[in-house]
Amino acid sequence: MGAHDPWHSQALQAQLDAVWPGMVVQIEPEVDSTNARLMSRARLGPLSPTLLVAEHQTQGRGRLGRTWLSSPQASLTFSIGVMMCPPSWAGLSLAVGVAVVEALIGPAAGVLGLKWPNDVWLRQPLAARRKCGGILVETSGAGGTSGPRACVVGVGLNVGQPDIASAQAETVAAAALDDVLPLRHPAEVLHRIAAPLLQALMQFDRQGLAPFLPRYASHDLLQGQAVHTSSTAAPAGVACGIDAHGALRLRVPSGEVVGVVSGEVSVRPVIC
Ligand code: BTN
Repeated sequence: MGAHDPWHSQALQAQLDAVWPGMVVQIEPEVDSTNARLMSRARLGPLSPTLLVAEHQTQGRGRLGRTWLSSPQASLTFSIGVMMCPPSWAGLSLAVGVAVVEALIGPAAGVLGLKWPNDVWLRQPLAARRKCGGILVETSGAGGTSGPRACVVGVGLNVGQPDIASAQAETVAAAALDDVLPLRHPAEVLHRIAAPLLQALMQFDRQGLAPFLPRYASHDLLQGQAVHTSSTAAPAGVACGIDAHGALRLRVPSGEVVGVVSGEVSVRPVIC
């Protein structure tokens, strides 16, 4: 199987089914957007638990309406679709970021971190820090705010150096995981992160963001950094962690600490 299926999809499916019963692994050579595909399915009815991997994604979606570019062989692009009913949805994408970073770094703690809300960056001296991955969480629910909703968690990671770098990295040069970790093929990365990510979704479904807050703090690259934001209410300040709802706590020039919510805001460190 290995020669024809570099993803070892049956083994992966067996592993994931043990974590989230019924999980189906689907590997496609080319997909417009794995998030868009699963969101379309979710609109038709309750979503069967699915891990959809695209070897090549032609219309990848990023946060804030951006495009997510990737290159076959060098990029891992996948989405997980499940039905969930957490106590609150606030901060789900941060919990996903924590799970992805922790699964990637393993004992190599310190080589990666999170740039709020959920970008995966190489943890290097501030001026050299670069984005190597992003997360896009979308939900779709049949009416009302309670009850289970379909949740699609999309993850894009540069495993090797992509050709397309800067467009997805908000003008910061894009980086690759293999700059800092001995990872070679996107399948290797998927096998490392898929089960921990599902476990994190299960934990979030039961407990919400609370158990992830201290873990987020230990990966928070913005802590104590001066940042600019696209929020008109708080265009600049010093980042001081996240609150219980996943908002970025920003100490603004007046001395007040305000919460910036992730939906429509971009944040970038001030690098002198
Ligand atoms: C971001 O940093 O802006 C989020 C990027 C998320 C990209 C992934 S790639 C797999 C999944 N499918 C998509 O269309 N987007 C996500």
